[in-house]
Amino acid sequence: MYTEQIERAKQLFGALLERQLKRVEAMKAQEAFLDYAALDRIVIGVCGGDGIGPSITGQAQRVLEFLLKDEIRAGKVEFRVIDGLTIERRAQEGAAIPAQVLAQLKECHAILKGPTTTPRAGDGYPNIESANVAMRKELDLFANVRPVSVPDQGIDWTFFRENTEGGYAAGKEGIAVSEDLCVDFTIVTAQGCDRIIRAAFEYAKNNGKTRVSAVTKANIVKTTDGKFLDAFYRIAKDYPDIAADDWYIDIMTAKLVDEKRRRDFQVLVLPNLYGDILTDEAAEFQGGVGTAGSANLGKRYAMFEAIHGSAPRMVREGRAQYADPCSMLRAAALLLNHIGYPDKAKRLTRALETCTVTERRLVITGRETGCTGEQFADYVMETMEKMN
Ligand code: IPM
Ligand code: MG
Repeated sequence: MYTEQIERAKQLFGALLERQLKRVEAMKAQEAFLDYAALDRIVIGVCGGDGIGPSITGQAQRVLEFLLKDEIRAGKVEFRVIDGLTIERRAQEGAAIPAQVLAQLKECHAILKGPTTTPRAGDGYPNIESANVAMRKELDLFANVRPVSVPDQGIDWTFFRENTEGGYAAGKEGIAVSEDLCVDFTIVTAQGCDRIIRAAFEYAKNNGKTRVSAVTKANIVKTTDGKFLDAFYRIAKDYPDIAADDWYIDIMTAKLVDEKRRRDFQVLVLPNLYGDILTDEAAEFQGGVGTAGSANLGKRYAMFEAIHGSAPRMVREGRAQYADPCSMLRAAALLLNHIGYPDKAKRLTRALETCTVTERRLVITGRETGCTGEQFADYVMETMEKMN
């Protein structure tokens, strides 16, 4: 019974394993993290994306240029605007990332990326892959670092979401074995676990954190989550000064709303899909996904983006200039920290706190009732100037 279907499924599965084993070999061949301090010049690519993307990304670029003006003058930092990561161009070329754009991205050391529209059924665009998922894969950006902080509630979390494996690695390669039976795959590799878990512990060590928590469902998803958890405790032994513990995703989802316990979490490391879900929940405490920035880090490349989408409706209604640039400004702070300017990153983060929480002299509402993104960026720069 079903011999033919099973044979076909086996073939597809075999091909999938071959692709994944190739990826393992590529990971084994990978070198150490790029050393930004050793570069004569750091090239920062700026990709506005589409919808409100160019508007908010442009403001983040202005703020970065303000903070890096001496370095730019000295030729130590260069900004390069990369056009063409728009839904129109992507649709025209039928590619998640147009080849020319990808080639330009690969010439940069860090990328600031605005939101990009992901086509969905019924919107008239071809069914191309999400540009940010494609970029994570193409540039092997395996660590998705998402900080969430709510100072007055004592919340200061940094999530290390694995960004290339789990349910995302073969999300398009599930197998419909028959009319009645479908199978998807979740994928874990020793190399993939190792690099994300070490990145989390290294971050903890370098940033004065005393605890790293792993989040899995290893009691049920035994093989892949089990592998992740084993790797976690093995690597934890290399960091004896940092407490290591683990939680299942269901109870962790609950603990994040537990006011007595949640402030104790510091660094969390987790497989891709759990990280996708938990970081949306976490960002909600800070004011929603619109306020959160995210770093996508690989050994050679690094990309910094907002967590939210491109809000095409705001553009249709002529309100793009009123879009809130805060998520991109937070992404800019993550970028500064990553390329070796932690003090500038702290200055920007403190200014953002003043402008959005403590002082709020200007407020963004998304329409004429509030200030424009440009006015807000000016306000952030004035605030930083006063902090000197
Ligand atoms: C995110 C987003 C993406 C993801 C989407 C847009 C494909 O939700 O960055 O968390 O699922 O990773
Ligand atoms: Mg998400």
